[in-house]
Amino acid sequence: MDKLIILDKLVSSNGNTITMFTGKGGVGKTTCAAATAHHYASLEKETIAISTDATPSLSHLFELTRKEKPAKVKDFLSIHELGMNEVMEMWDKKFGAEVYAVFSSLVSIDYSKFLEFMTSVLPGLSDEFMLDYIKELNEKGEYENIIWDTAPLGQTLSLLETPALLRKHLRMAPRIYSKLRLGHKSKKPIMDILMHWEEASAEIMDFIRERVRFNIVTIPEALAVEQLADTFHKLYEYGFTLQQLIINNVVKRKDSDFLMAKVEQQKSYIETIHDSYSNIKIVELPMFPYELKGLERLKEIENILFKNTR
Ligand SMILES: Nc1ncnc2c1ncn2[C@@H]1O[C@H](COP(=O)(O)OP(=O)(O)O)[C@@H](O)[C@H]1O
Ligand SMILES: [Mg+2]
Repeated sequence: MDKLIILDKLVSSNGNTITMFTGKGGVGKTTCAAATAHHYASLEKETIAISTDATPSLSHLFELTRKEKPAKVKDFLSIHELGMNEVMEMWDKKFGAEVYAVFSSLVSIDYSKFLEFMTSVLPGLSDEFMLDYIKELNEKGEYENIIWDTAPLGQTLSLLETPALLRKHLRMAPRIYSKLRLGHKSKKPIMDILMHWEEASAEIMDFIRERVRFNIVTIPEALAVEQLADTFHKLYEYGFTLQQLIINNVVKRKDSDFLMAKVEQQKSYIETIHDSYSNIKIVELPMFPYELKGLERLKEIENILFKNTR
């Protein structure tokens, strides 16, 4: 674990930040992402919270009814929920024609069938586009802070693996294509596109490595704690940067038998986490007796997450 790059500061002095929240479903990623976005916005830094979860809940949390994309929550704070359809549309605009050129040189396929094929057979490509979108948003520099609320862990890890996998495949592609009986005229542009693609995938990996700070959210329960090791392993493997580990839903009060039992049950999991990841910044968030919805409630989370930075 010691080679995992760990941040000890929450805000870097140079450049914009991208803070990503990952973890199993229902552990509190969106809640933490929203509270973090609210924190940066309250420092008057232009902030956007993006969700790449297929069932986004940011707008619900911020009690927003407007449907613009991105939608403004308040001064300095916007949210953008990226649905799969929207991502496909953007992907189509940016890469569709290029990829279609490759495909249609090999097989006869009309464009709408091709798009259908791409979404169903190669979901990895739209994942890559999602990452590309975040990278581009960062490059545009419109927002000082980008808060990225992700889909449940499995999906997110495969999303993050896509550029590396795609890159590996694309590296072999020229050899395969060079064996195809295509005239030089159609071969050259295909080779160019493949090269361009491989470069784009490499750039996305570098971007995640250099710019994205990972925040892992977990809860003191068996399955969630078990999954942590896997997550750490993946982050380490790809050289991603971990900012902190958040243990959410920690029961603090023991004023009933029920709560006493709950506290006891959580205790060993919390100890295990602290023992296993002692070199990482760990924040414990209490379980609240009410729904965390709306700015006032989010502030309570924000105050704990950023307690020592004020
Ligand atoms: N510390 C907490 N105390 C009480 N309820 C919480 C806490 N954290 C999250 N919740 C609630 O748990 C549910 C899931 O949280 P959410 O942030 O949507 O998780 P995720 O995005 O990981 O699926 C929400 O209803 C949220 O209000
Ligand atoms: Mg969520």
